[in-house]
Amino acid sequence: MASPKSSLILASPTDEERRRCWKATHPQWGAALSLDAYLAREQRQLEIPLARNGGLTNWILTTREGESVPPPAGGSTDTGRPVLSSCETLKKRALVRGKDGIIREGTAHGVASVFTDPAYRGRGYATTMLRQLADTLGKMEEENRGDAMFSVLYSDVGKKFYAVNEWFPHPSNHAEFAASVDDTPAVSPEALKILHFDDLPPLVAADEQLIRKEIAQPPHPGHPAIRAAILPDLDQIHWHLAREGFVCEQLFSRRPNVHGALYTSSSGARVWAIWARSFSGTVAEPAKNTLFFLRFVVEEGVSDEDLREALRAIVAVAKKEAADTACAKVQMWNPDRRVRAAAEELGAKYVVRDNDSITSLNALGEIRGEPVDWVANEKYAWC
Ligand SMILES: CC(C)(COP(=O)(O)OP(=O)(O)OC[C@H]1O[C@@H](n2cnc3c(N)ncnc32)[C@H](O)[C@@H]1OP(=O)(O)O)[C@@H](O)C(=O)NCCC(=O)NCCS
Repeated sequence: MASPKSSLILASPTDEERRRCWKATHPQWGAALSLDAYLAREQRQLEIPLARNGGLTNWILTTREGESVPPPAGGSTDTGRPVLSSCETLKKRALVRGKDGIIREGTAHGVASVFTDPAYRGRGYATTMLRQLADTLGKMEEENRGDAMFSVLYSDVGKKFYAVNEWFPHPSNHAEFAASVDDTPAVSPEALKILHFDDLPPLVAADEQLIRKEIAQPPHPGHPAIRAAILPDLDQIHWHLAREGFVCEQLFSRRPNVHGALYTSSSGARVWAIWARSFSGTVAEPAKNTLFFLRFVVEEGVSDEDLREALRAIVAVAKKEAADTACAKVQMWNPDRRVRAAAEELGAKYVVRDNDSITSLNALGEIRGEPVDWVANEKYAWC
């Protein structure tokens, strides 16, 4: 007899099914928005450069034609095929440095919004969907040599659930500052530049070069030989800013126009942060809202003293921007040892996450099953 799971297939939802998924996920992820605004945001995110033209794929787990599953708890109101579980994947430009030292350029898939309707939970549907998704993404790699290379996701349900399907947990730490309006250090305007949208393209391009240089380095002692990175290109950044802008329009009737800050040290070497806000709560619940550094960049030649000064100046702007937009905190993911020390000196709390936003990576194709060193594992790659 065929296993009941073999009657389940991974499929592309119709527009109506996709809307059904969004309605179902609104209570989970849309607390800051009305249902209508949430549906409008999801629709609009489909048009963002990172997502359009095949960049975003929606997936559902459903039944083969003519097959059925036991009805959900409480009975079914579905008129068409059942949506047993759902998720989406976003394509991201990526690099992998193999054991042979050769760098390949291709695609990474970010998996987002993994969801099973409460009435269908605990029946193995999400696990089945993820298994089929991993197989599908892996086949895409085999068929398009040099293209899909790995997949990432950010688990809010601990480390075990996704590891079963080979999305293995990676370091998931952050430095966190409390938002504040009254912490503005005196910094000369020549040293500190506030970043607006038009300032971002050259910085993002410079950052890409830094990541290319970093990934070309031999493996760090004690770290895996294979190194992987998602490129923090403008499409990545824009995706976050579009989400942020949409929610801020709803909450504050304005879009933030300060997207980061850049500090130029006396040697000319620069330090910068690009950020975006993320709202899990309303204006009345700032503790649930965070201003995230999407990327924190330290160019070569920045002394420890310059780094401390740069961080002090940049964080002060970020803390004020956070406080002005109902975000109680500022977070910087996976700071290296030197940045972490400077942040803690400034009063940051260092947090090792063990349940939420667990950064997880599934190596595909040639590197399947191999341990990977994830370079620049910062918030910009989140989806
Ligand atoms: C997480 C979720 C997708 C699981 O869907 P599901 O179809 O019930 O999952 P499965 O039946 O395949 O697997 C159930 C397993 O997930 C685990 N799980 C479910 N929710 C969990 C949670 N919040 N924390 C930790 N583990 C959880 C169960 O304990 C179970 O583990 P077991 O097999 O060892 O007993 C579903 O609970 C959901 O939609 N939750 C709300 C949205 C969400 O948090 N999504 C994940 C975002 S990263």
